[in-house]
Amino acid sequence: MSKLKIEGGNELTGSIKISGAKNSAVALIPAAILSKTRSTIFNVPKISDIEYLIKITELLNCQVSIKEDIMSIDTTNIRYNAIPEELSEMMRASYYYMGAMLARFKKAEISFPGGCKIGNRPIDLHLKGFEKLGAKITQIKNKYILEAKELIGTKIYLDFASVGATINLMLAAVGAKGKTIIENAAKEPEIVNIASFLINMGAQIKGAGTSTIIIEGTNDLDNGIVEVFPDRIEASTYLILGALIGKDLTIEGAIKEHINPVLDKLVEAGANYNITNNRITISKINKIKPVSIKTQVYPGFPTDVQQPFTTLLTQAEGNSKIIETIYESRFKHTEYLNLMGADTTAEGNVLYIKGPTKLKGENVYATDLRGGASLVIAALIAEGTTTIDNTEHILRGYEDIVIKLQKVGAKIEEI
Ligand code: EPZ
Repeated sequence: MSKLKIEGGNELTGSIKISGAKNSAVALIPAAILSKTRSTIFNVPKISDIEYLIKITELLNCQVSIKEDIMSIDTTNIRYNAIPEELSEMMRASYYYMGAMLARFKKAEISFPGGCKIGNRPIDLHLKGFEKLGAKITQIKNKYILEAKELIGTKIYLDFASVGATINLMLAAVGAKGKTIIENAAKEPEIVNIASFLINMGAQIKGAGTSTIIIEGTNDLDNGIVEVFPDRIEASTYLILGALIGKDLTIEGAIKEHINPVLDKLVEAGANYNITNNRITISKINKIKPVSIKTQVYPGFPTDVQQPFTTLLTQAEGNSKIIETIYESRFKHTEYLNLMGADTTAEGNVLYIKGPTKLKGENVYATDLRGGASLVIAALIAEGTTTIDNTEHILRGYEDIVIKLQKVGAKIEEI
C-alpha cells in the first residue's frame, strides 16, 4: 500500500507537462488488436493501468514494446485466449477487449469486477449493444462469454450516452458486416481519439464526437497509428491547484476546447489565466467566489473534475453546490476533506460546500482516483503535514504526479 506524505503551504510556480490521457490510452491498447499485423501508439502515459493492458495483449500472443512513450504492438501472430479474472479484474477498462475480440475473433471470455467506490457501474448498455449486433452472451457470476457466428451492422440507441459503451460498440461494429449507427453516442474527446486510430487502420467511421456515429464494417485493418490526446482531467486537476496556490503556474500541452467547461467555472470562481499555444498559465485567486456545478456528459462539466473542484470550493467565500448527475455516489472523498476541516454536506446527489474553511494536515485515505486527487490538492493547501493512504488509485491516473509536483515546488514524497 503506497502512501504520500505532503507538507502544505508552498506556492507552486513553474510548468507541468500534461501526459497522454488515461481514458484514451486504456481503450487504444485493446483497439490495437484489430490491426492485422502492427500498430503504433504515441504519447502513452506511464501509469499502472497500461501495464495490465500490455499483459492482456501479450496473453493474446501479441508482441508489445515501448520506447519512451511510443508503444509498438505486433499482432501478426495473434491468437485467441480467454482473459483470466486475475488480469481483467485489475481495471474496469479491460472490458474494451470484449468489443475488440468480438470484432477480431467473434468471441470473447472475460471477467469483471462489480461496482467500485463511485457507483455500481453496470455494463448493461455494452451487452445490449453487442446482442443487437448478433452476439450471444452467457454470464456465469462475473464472467462473460460472448460469441457470434457473425456480427451484422444495425442501429443501436444508447439509453445513456455512455463513454465505455460508445467505444466498446464502435470496436465491435468495425468487425460487423454492413453499417452500424450508434445513436445518443457519447461525445467525449476519447471517442474521437479511438475513432481516429481505427480510421488510420482503414476503418470507415463518421460522426465520432457527435451523438450519431456511423461505422461501415471492414475486415482489412492494418498499420494503426495514433497519438494519445493530452489528459483533460489531469490538466483540469493542475489548473485547480494553480487557482489555489499557483504563481504563474503553467500547464503545458492541454487542448483548450477539451477543458472549456472547467476553465469557464474557474473564471466564474474568480480565476484568470492566459493561453499561448497550448500553454495555460494560472495564478492563485485572491478572493474565490462560490459557484454551482452540475456534472454532465461532454461537453458539460466533467464528473471526473467535480472531486478536485470540491477542494477549491472549500476555500470559496460563501456557499457552493455540486450536483453529480453521472454517478450515484461520487462524494466519498468528502469524509476526508471534512476531517481536514472542510464543511461539506452530501444529500443524495447534491453536495453543499460552505467556505472558506481552514484545512489542516491529517491522515487520510484515497477512496478512488479523483477523490484521491482532491485530497492531494487539499494537503497542498492545508497547514501542516498530511499522509494519504491507498494512493495506488492516484498513481493509476496521474503519471509522475510526485515528480511533476516537486518540480513546481510542492513538498510531496512517496513513502
Ligand atoms: C468513463 O467511464 C471514464 N473511465 C470515467 O473516468 C468517467 O467518469 C466516465 O467515462 C464518464 O465520463 C474510462 O474512460 C476508463 P460511462 P465509463 O459508461 O465508460 C452508467 C476516471 O476517474 N452506465 O459514461 O464507465 C454508469 O453506471 C474514471 O478516470 C450504465 O448504467 O463511464 C455511470 O453511472 C472514473 N450502464 C454512467 O453510466 C452501462 O452499460 C457513466 O458511465 C454503462 C454505464
